[in-house]
Amino acid sequence: MSFTILKKHELVPTIHQMEITAPRVAKKAMPGQFVILRINERGERIPLTIADFDVQAGTITLIFQEIGKTTCQLASLAAGGLIADVTGPLGTPSTIGKFGTVVCVGGGVGIAPIFPIARALLEAGNRVISIIGARSADILFWEERMDAASSELHITTDDGTKGHHGFVTEVVQNLLERGKQGAHSEPGEPDGHNGQIDRVIAIGPPVMMRAVAGVTKPFGVKTVVSLNPIMVDGTGMCGACRVLVGGETKFACVDGPEFDAHEVDFTLLMSRLAMYLPEEKEAIDCKATAELAAGRQ
Ligand code: FAD
Ligand code: FES
Ligand code: MG
Repeated sequence: MSFTILKKHELVPTIHQMEITAPRVAKKAMPGQFVILRINERGERIPLTIADFDVQAGTITLIFQEIGKTTCQLASLAAGGLIADVTGPLGTPSTIGKFGTVVCVGGGVGIAPIFPIARALLEAGNRVISIIGARSADILFWEERMDAASSELHITTDDGTKGHHGFVTEVVQNLLERGKQGAHSEPGEPDGHNGQIDRVIAIGPPVMMRAVAGVTKPFGVKTVVSLNPIMVDGTGMCGACRVLVGGETKFACVDGPEFDAHEVDFTLLMSRLAMYLPEEKEAIDCKATAELAAGRQ
């Protein structure tokens, strides 16, 4: 059975939005879950987060960044095209509860996975303060969606072309400090009105998630990150996605992908993510060479 691409467009340079008909996945999808897809029978399997889902229409929305062979191939497909396999929903869903004030941080393509989580937390009655960040304004996306899914939205860009000039971590730090002062000066105010931050969830490049964890730790605020190790089967069988959390080996595809940020060994995560860099580079070079050859014929 193949899966039809209903819509596809480039949201911002190199980041694409794709809507796929996958009624069984859409029916069961929960915030924080992902699919593993294979473009064709000879393709590799890659995990992508379910950025949105529509049970009525039987569709899921994926957002992906062109970074290597498979994501570049996916980007070359158009509406009406087919994808051989879309397996999911996979992974443990996000914990959605009534925590009080939750800060949701999305960095780069991490804005897509944070969106359904922020929306669910808002619907559950939390005050949701979202922070979305990108290198530059021209690669920032889903600002309107994030605004609708949040009580308060902050934007950061590394180059200052929009919002706060700097990193998401600086805004997290400011909010935590504001919360600490507010909590001391106005004790007893209802949740969300004294500025106290009860939980932080951050999704983005590992270096960003590690930095957020470093900022929240001294404040003792529970922080959750969604890890993105290399995955193959997505069912806990192959061991490719193993991560170290609190000194214990976990499989991100079934035990996660969300974990306590203060317990994660980010150094190991980053070194394992770079394990196949020579092969990945070769695959891309092959693609470029093949395209060049095809163009010359
Ligand atoms: P390659 O050149 O093969 O690899 C580039 C880099 O991507 C590698 O160095 C490695 O760090 C990583 N990578 C490679 N293969 C895999 C793999 N099988 N699994 C995981 N990482 C890999 N990206 C998005 O753009 N949008 C998303 O919504 C998204 N959600 C994800 C959810 C989960 C649970 C995980 C684990 C990853 C997610 N990713 C997402 C990352 C995405 O899977 C990789 O960017 C993609 O697999 C790269 O494939 P490639 O062949 O294009 O690049
Ligand atoms: Fe194989 Fe998680 S991807 S065990
Ligand atoms: Mg690849």
